[in-house]
Amino acid sequence: MTIQDVQIIELPKILDKRGNLSIIEEFQHIPFKIARTYWIYDVPGGETRGGHAYKENQECIVALSGSFDVVLDDGKQKQTYSLNRSYYGLYVPRGLWRQMQNFSTNSLALVLSSTAYDPNDYIRDYREFLISKNR
Ligand code: TYD
Repeated sequence: MTIQDVQIIELPKILDKRGNLSIIEEFQHIPFKIARTYWIYDVPGGETRGGHAYKENQECIVALSGSFDVVLDDGKQKQTYSLNRSYYGLYVPRGLWRQMQNFSTNSLALVLSSTAYDPNDYIRDYREFLISKNR
């Protein structure tokens, strides 16, 4: 997979004077079945999360609150996606190096994943990642 396979998905937005509502349904708004949901919060200023690739796992990342940057790298090209609206999902296909940084105070990052947690699905060494991309 390459940076060209990344998608910024505009999610449905039901505007309402009582408060807005957005939706993600598997296979409808994202191209995978959701096996796991987790969220990242209370990130101290200047901290970075991620810094790894997944061999199989695909994900959709939403800035439910606040803002942060997701840096994606396919071994040839690097692209930074700034997320700051709760009605955009960033689709990250398998096999990309990804890092999350520049978290604003009180930001909340929702991650929908296509696989259950599996430490063996991670590539944590950047050189190993580059070797896997050039195979
Ligand atoms: P990790 O994915 O390594 O986070 P980051 O790449 O941002 O540092 O996860 C951090 C820790 O949380 C790690 O010890 C494993 C645990 N974890 C789970 O147990 N289940 C999960 O679904 C995730 C994402 C992490």
